[in-house]
Amino acid sequence: MADSRALQPLPGLERPFRIGPLPVREDERAVRMLARAFRDNPLDVAVIGGRERERLRAVAWGMRTTLASARQASATRILAAFEPGRTGPVGILVGIPSAALPLPPAPLWLQLRSTLGQGLRVGRRWATVFHTLESQQPRDPHWYLSLVGVDPPHCGLGIGRALLQSWLASIDPDGLPSYLETDREANLAFYAKAGFEVVSRLEVLGTPVWCMRRTVSAPEEGPLALHPT
Ligand SMILES: CC(C)(COP(=O)(O)OP(=O)(O)OC[C@H]1O[C@@H](n2cnc3c(N)ncnc32)[C@H](O)[C@@H]1OP(=O)(O)O)[C@@H](O)C(=O)NCCC(=O)NCCS
Repeated sequence: MADSRALQPLPGLERPFRIGPLPVREDERAVRMLARAFRDNPLDVAVIGGRERERLRAVAWGMRTTLASARQASATRILAAFEPGRTGPVGILVGIPSAALPLPPAPLWLQLRSTLGQGLRVGRRWATVFHTLESQQPRDPHWYLSLVGVDPPHCGLGIGRALLQSWLASIDPDGLPSYLETDREANLAFYAKAGFEVVSRLEVLGTPVWCMRRTVSAPEEGPLALHPT
């Protein structure tokens, strides 16, 4: 179970979900949950193809290496939502400051295991996808929303929104814009509600991908902030 001292109750939710940093000991459960969340996303289907079971396994290897890389950059925020009494996270968000990109590679043994687990063809196709996405990413300092996923049985309960709001509240004081890519048109409204706007639309392996950006509005200068004349 997660350390309840590090967790905050999610405001506005009927069920008592809690949110906080993902403890390292929960990484493998987080990987399996993320694989369930992303198994049927259009890019995962385009890259991996196959049957649901094979795709679940391949997505899990991708998530394992992503999470291991993210763990190596200390500034990365890895947030999790937990339901008290239930084992493992029900939602995960990974946010990375652009200064930490590209992330350090996962340990070599994991890269090798992942290549074997996914297959060479899938590894090459993911490399094409990431190369295309990276070529479009902003050059100015920003926060990058690497991924947010909610366990399918828990979708639609407000967990994704709460994870996003929690992350944005933690990074907004930096005053930096945030940026993300999504391969699901249905997600555009979800992100727009948090202040993201579509800045471009790409096609990767024949799959549409929307790039979105959110700027933090500067606090309005009130009378107290004016310089005396
Ligand atoms: C996208 C995702 C993280 C949203 O999490 P969630 O917990 O299901 O979303 P919430 O319950 O917090 O919904 C927040 C709002 O977005 C809307 N929304 C969320 N997903 C939506 C979807 N697929 N289609 C339409 N609306 C959606 C909800 O209706 C809700 O609207 P409201 O504020 O008016 O009530 C989750 O559906 C998911 O993991 N999807 C698969 C992985 C994925 O696509 N991740 C994002 C990759 S960029």
